Amino acid sequence: MLNTIQNTLPKSVNIVEVGPRDGLQNEKSNITVEQKVELINRLSKTGLAHIESASFVSPKWVPQMASSDLVMKDIEKKEGIIYSALTPNMRGFENAIASGCKQVAVFAAASEGFSQKNINCSISESLKRFEPIIEAAKSHNIPVRGYVSCVIACPYDGETEPSQVSTLTKEILDMGCYEVSLGDTIGVGTPLKTAKMLEACLHDSSTSQLAGHFHDTYGQALANVLIAMQMGISTFDSSVAGLGGCPYAKGASGNLASEDLVYMLENMGVSTGIDLAGLCETGRWISAMLNRTNASKVGLATAS
Ligand code: HMG
Ligand code: MG
Repeated sequence: MLNTIQNTLPKSVNIVEVGPRDGLQNEKSNITVEQKVELINRLSKTGLAHIESASFVSPKWVPQMASSDLVMKDIEKKEGIIYSALTPNMRGFENAIASGCKQVAVFAAASEGFSQKNINCSISESLKRFEPIIEAAKSHNIPVRGYVSCVIACPYDGETEPSQVSTLTKEILDMGCYEVSLGDTIGVGTPLKTAKMLEACLHDSSTSQLAGHFHDTYGQALANVLIAMQMGISTFDSSVAGLGGCPYAKGASGNLASEDLVYMLENMGVSTGIDLAGLCETGRWISAMLNRTNASKVGLATAS
């Protein structure tokens, strides 16, 4: 029995740290460029291989990300680490490139309501916007990651049909994204709902093309990671200290805390390459800096 369970787990997992972007974009307090840069520099020392560091969106829509160009220029870029950024349109892409970004991400939603509220256009219009970005990225040799939000439910349209997620995911992959991160934006998914959504996606996409991005609003994120791993997914997004949420998804809390994810994986023999103690220290540091409660249980449990 134990062997059967162990055999369903991957040997290693890739973690995409989204705290500096998904986390900080939703903070109410003013965060300086220096604080953002220090967060990313500290995260760079923990063994993370991919840190989503910035977002080249309209500053009117997401004021916290307004200084993304300065952040990208000021961080100490360590060899072997991907420092990526969100780019909703060509303007964002051009700004990202000018700031030294070597990887970008485009983001769509599986529901029309969220697409309108988040990026002010329909799903099909958003795909049209991505075309020139992906084209330009190709000519710059820049990999493009894709996001699909509201894969379980939408704060405006209610439950999302798994087939809607799988069709959109396939379209984004066919356009040239190397991977699609499936976002439970409002964190309402349970393991069986997650499995149903993934089963639909796995009809036309492979496990290596999919990632899980589970917000932890209802405390289900780790359970969703576990079921997704058992279905073959081995890339997950998480956020140090459980920072964040989405400004256009009221009530959405932060992502799964990176510390809690690393603790679970490493203690199950699934390698992450991440120094848990260093990550916990960074989580405590940023929580104190932002004067916010640390949302990582492991971060709290290991505090001296
Ligand atoms: P719009 O208002 O339809 O666009 O916004 P527009 O072209 O009319 O431009 C409006 C203003 O923004 C103009 O300025 C543009 O110049 C400027 P004005 O003339 O009024 O002074 N503008 C820009 N400025 C800087 N950089 C740009 C840019 N583009 C336009 N790239 C737009 C459309 C997409 C720009 C807007 O809706 C937007 O920025 N949305 C971003 C929303 C966002 O960042 N949401 C959070 C990230 S998504 C997320 O968190 C989910 C995820 O984590 C996965 C999950 O959890 O599910 C990824
Ligand atoms: Mg998110």
